[in-house]
Order: sequence, then structure tokens, then C-alpha cells
Amino acid sequence: MNVVMVGTGYVGLVSGACFSDFGHRVTCIDKDVSKIERLKRGEIPIFEPGLDQLVATNVREGRLFFETDPRAAVRDADAVFIAVGTPSRRGDGHADLSFVYAAAEEIAGLIDGFTVLVTKSTVPVGTGDEIEAIVRRVRPDAEVEVVSNPEFLREGAAINDFKRPDRVVVGTEDERAREVMRELYRPLFLNETPILFTSRRTSELIKYAANAFLAMKITFINEMADLCEAVGADVQQVSRGIGLDNRIGAKFLHAGPGYGGSCFPKDTLALVRTAADSGAPTRLIETTVQVNDARKRRMADKVVAALGGEVAGKTVAVLGLTFKPNTDDMRDAPSLAIIPRLQALGAQVRAYDPEGMGEARRLLQDVAFTSGPYDAAEGADVVVFVTEWDQFRALDLDRLKLVMRKPAIVDLRNIYRPSEMAARGFAYASIGRP
Ligand SMILES: NC(=O)c1ccc[n+]([C@@H]2O[C@H](COP(=O)([O-])OP(=O)(O)OC[C@H]3O[C@@H](n4cnc5c(N)ncnc54)[C@H](O)[C@@H]3O)[C@@H](O)[C@H]2O)c1
Repeated sequence: MNVVMVGTGYVGLVSGACFSDFGHRVTCIDKDVSKIERLKRGEIPIFEPGLDQLVATNVREGRLFFETDPRAAVRDADAVFIAVGTPSRRGDGHADLSFVYAAAEEIAGLIDGFTVLVTKSTVPVGTGDEIEAIVRRVRPDAEVEVVSNPEFLREGAAINDFKRPDRVVVGTEDERAREVMRELYRPLFLNETPILFTSRRTSELIKYAANAFLAMKITFINEMADLCEAVGADVQQVSRGIGLDNRIGAKFLHAGPGYGGSCFPKDTLALVRTAADSGAPTRLIETTVQVNDARKRRMADKVVAALGGEVAGKTVAVLGLTFKPNTDDMRDAPSLAIIPRLQALGAQVRAYDPEGMGEARRLLQDVAFTSGPYDAAEGADVVVFVTEWDQFRALDLDRLKLVMRKPAIVDLRNIYRPSEMAARGFAYASIGRP
């Protein structure tokens, strides 16, 4: 099949590369000229494990193309995916759909023959209806079915998630469109991946419901961590104790500094707004949003406490800046809430992240970015683990202690054991553990 991906970001590039690996002919479009030029040169503009090889293979096999001009590819397409960003709209938290609508309008003008127009971006309920109205207005003659197909991949494990998903959700009631979607996901059909056909509105809502539930689960265990700290219990054992219950499940029960990233913060907020506008408010999610925001801000207090309450003139080494490991994505990362707060209190911040420093330089001021974890810890009064990159899990603690001014650690991801740290002579604070 001929596929076009409009928007070649974290989702568009991974989805496009995976569809081409399934055997389809895929053209990834982006209006960011430099991004497309880099891709044409064989460079991958984001960090995602395995993506460089997957792209290189499919480009070499003549199935994967990159363009800024969508005209030729859209004309020949069986399916055109919209995978552009849907960030929070400034001021009110609704999803900003301007990129989606602009893309829909442009594509509508170019379509030729029966085409399935698929929304892969995360969009509020009813957006498909609006896209359909745009298409009908621009091209009353076009043979188009507007379909919802939300994406559930996680950055850092995106290729595996796309190729071996727990399920695929397709929102359309049109049989011809369903047939195109079945053909596109054929290898997954053969794998017996559950493919859920629903109405378009239901499909749009499934994506938000999934993200909101996961955000709520994280927030739940974060509150349990606070309670553990107050009463002298261990949140990791609480997680295990409840996670072994099949009705609960062990995933998304790691207490930490609060969820961040390119999806949960904006999607929970957008769901809250949609629900309120629809007269069916989601109190649980409203609270989740508030609790998480407050938590991210409060994480700096743990560092302040580790410094004995005196921050001015102290040096803080931050290890890990991205919102999670194995990505370079800095969107809504907890580090962006913690670092400026410490700086405002007078701290000097040194930081290291294996992949996120390029983007972090744009987003953070007056941070000394370093070449590695030990370099970051040089002269520090405290080391703070903000992201649990594997390379931070097995540091040479004696070496770390040697370069620091004072041996103190704040571990916001619980990657070390309190007993181990005590034995090594570190003052150690973590999340929800005695
Ligand atoms: N990142 C994730 O982990 C993830 C997971 C699931 C779903 N999603 C959803 O997928 C969507 C895309 O997210 P992302 O992280 O890939 O965003 P992104 O910002 O990485 O990529 C979006 C791309 O679209 C391009 N673009 C915007 N308007 C365009 C247009 N008219 N024509 C061509 N290109 C255009 C931008 O230049 C950018 O490169 C969002 O709705 C997001 O919520 C993201």
C-alpha cells in the first residue's frame, strides 16, 4: 500500500519506518526543512533505540522516503496519516488542534481517488468530525474516509511497541476504510494482535482514557510514597505487594518525581477540559493533574532538605534531564521544574544527561553541562538522580564520593538502596523509603 505520514516527529517517524518495514511504500512529510534534509542525509533527528537501523534498511530497500512537499505522495496514497503535534493550548489547557486542521486542509486539497485519512495524533473526541467537515468543505468531490487510529507507543521502546502492540484501535464504521486499515496492519493480524474496531469518537476517547488511567496510577503510588515517608513504610514493597494482585498489575507503580513527558501532562489536562465542557467532569483526573503539578515543584524541597536548608552558594549535580531514559525528549520533564527552583534559591547547577543535553541547553539557563556523571559531581554538595538512565545504576560510588564536596545523594528514582548508600558513607534521601 502507499502510505503518507504527515508529521515526522517521534510518532510519525517511528510509525512511518515500521509501516515501511511491514512492506508498504511510505513517504514521511514534514514542514521542518532541516529535519527532512537530515533524514535524506541518513541522520536521525531524534534519539530512539534501533531507529537508525530501521530507517537505513527501509530507505535502502526503496520503501521509505522523506519529503517536504506532500503533493505527489498524497495523490498516490491509499492512506494518509496525520501525526503532527497536539500540544496544550496556551492559557486554557485544551489540545491545540491548529496543526491537525492545517494538515487536514492541505491534504484535502491534494487527494486523488479513494483515500483513508487517518488521525494518529492524540486528538479530543469529535476532532474526526471536524476534520471530515474540513475535507468536505475543501473538496466536496473527494472520496475520503476519516479514521481515528491513536498511537500507544512509548518513547524509548517505540519500535517494539509499534510492532508488538498490546492492541490496535481503529475508529471507523466504514467497511472500505476498515479493509484498508486491516491491510496496513496485516502483519499484526497474522500475529493475532487484538485489533479493536470502534466508532471514531470511541477510538478518540480510548487514547485519552488510557493515558489518564496510567497518569492516575503513577500519581496514586506517588501519594502512597508520601504516606510511606510519613509513617515509616517502604513504597517499593507496597508496590510489589499490590502489583502482584492481577487486578492491579505491577506496571506504572514506580514512585518518583511525578509524571512528565510529551503526553501525560497535556493529555490529562485536555481530557479534563473536554469532560468539563461536555458536562461530565472527571474529578479523579482533575485531582491527578493538581497533585502531579504540586509534586514536581515539591521535589526541589527534598534537595533543599538534603542541603540542610541552605541552598545559596551550594553546588547541585543533576544526573538525568529527560523525562525518562532512552529518549532525548525534554518536554515537561521533571528536571525543568526542579532546576530553576534550585537556581532561584541560589544554587549552582551542574548537569549531565546521555541524550538530552542538546535540547536542555535551549530550555535551561546558567547550567554547567558536563561530559559525564563524575564530571557533573565535581565539587557538588549533593547529587540528584532525576532520570533513571541505566548508566547511573552502577556508578563507582567511591569515585563519586571522592570528587564531591559533601557525600549527599537525593535519589528521585530509587535506583540505589538506602542500606548500600549508608554503608558507603552517603547521606541519602529517596522516595517513599525509610
Ligand atoms: N511522543 C510520543 O511518545 C507519543 C505517543 C503517542 C501519541 N503521541 C501523539 O502523537 C502526536 C505527535 O507527537 P510527536 O511526539 O511525534 O510530536 P513531534 O512534535 O515530535 O512531531 C510533530 C511533527 O509534525 C510536524 N508538522 C507540524 N505540522 C505539520 C504540517 N502541516 N505538515 C507537515 N509536518 C507538520 C512538525 O514539524 C514535527 O516535526 C501528538 O498528538 C502526540 O500526543 C505521541
